Amino acid sequence: MRATAKAHTNIALIKYWGKRDESLILPTNNSLSVTLDGFYTETTVAFNEALKQDQFTLDGQSISGVQYDRVTTFLDLVRDVAGKKNLYAAVDSVNKVPTAAGFASSASGFAALAAASARAIGLSLTDQELSRITRQGSGSACRSIYGGFAEWEMGKRADGSDSYAVPIAPVDHWDIRVAAVVLNATKKKVSSREGMKRTVDTSPFFASWVESNPVDLNGIKAGIKHRDFEKVGEIAEANCLKMHATTLGANPPFTYLQDTTLTVMQAVQAMRANGIPAFFTIDAGPNVKVLYLPENERTVEKTLRGIPGVTDVILSKSGQGVTYL
Ligand code: DP6
Repeated sequence: MRATAKAHTNIALIKYWGKRDESLILPTNNSLSVTLDGFYTETTVAFNEALKQDQFTLDGQSISGVQYDRVTTFLDLVRDVAGKKNLYAAVDSVNKVPTAAGFASSASGFAALAAASARAIGLSLTDQELSRITRQGSGSACRSIYGGFAEWEMGKRADGSDSYAVPIAPVDHWDIRVAAVVLNATKKKVSSREGMKRTVDTSPFFASWVESNPVDLNGIKAGIKHRDFEKVGEIAEANCLKMHATTLGANPPFTYLQDTTLTVMQAVQAMRANGIPAFFTIDAGPNVKVLYLPENERTVEKTLRGIPGVTDVILSKSGQGVTYL
């Protein structure tokens, strides 16, 4: 009744931005990401008949409130599938995702929680089934089941049965790198969940965002297949800009981009003008992720560290999917 799983976070090259069903977490478009080896969560789940409710510790601290509620709601789902309604669990998570790096730790967090809890309660799931359950904890987490590149297929059905991630290319297909650029920035005011919802409900740009996505997706999949870095980088950067453009049209309008974010974006474009292929992508926060190739690592790191307002640069390769410890 006990299992430990490790899952890495991922960075989306084609963004998930918009839900068609809030409670089942069903998206309005497919998304595609690369899993990163530098950032992960390890979670142990132990179901125990003596427990009267779930317990959750994160990095050794007992957690209550919204974070606790998201974990128990997710465990209810796993209990439902297993047909073990009143069996509670002790959940211990350790996050190796520096919070300052601005990665959604919910991606590695829910992927590790899903894998450990499903195994601990005795379910034996395929990756696809695991991805589908994980999705209901946090959308982007369903891609972290796989290593390398993964695509979350939005699906069409109202019950979400066809909405899960699938592997696109394994880790050893292509050694591309990601630098997480940590900025001296203020804490974000709008969470990704809230920002996404406000955009869907009010932004006149949202429809064009959804409409433009399949072309980006097909292009990037061809780019990954042929290891065409320029193509993958150009599409990822443009897709991220389109996502961020939708927030400017929302009511009330908002943006995750801060002045230091723009400085880094311009520095990345300047690197390109100087012959170093590097491209940026940005999630629902001010920090920037830079895609580059191994042969340019030194130059890219040095350039990024030299930008005013940059407090840290954390380098990562692409990483493995879920593993059990
Ligand atoms: C901008 O997966 O954190 O990082 O499904 O509401 O938990 P919920 O949202 P979440 O959103 C991530 C949005 C994004 C883009 C992406 O990872 O695709």
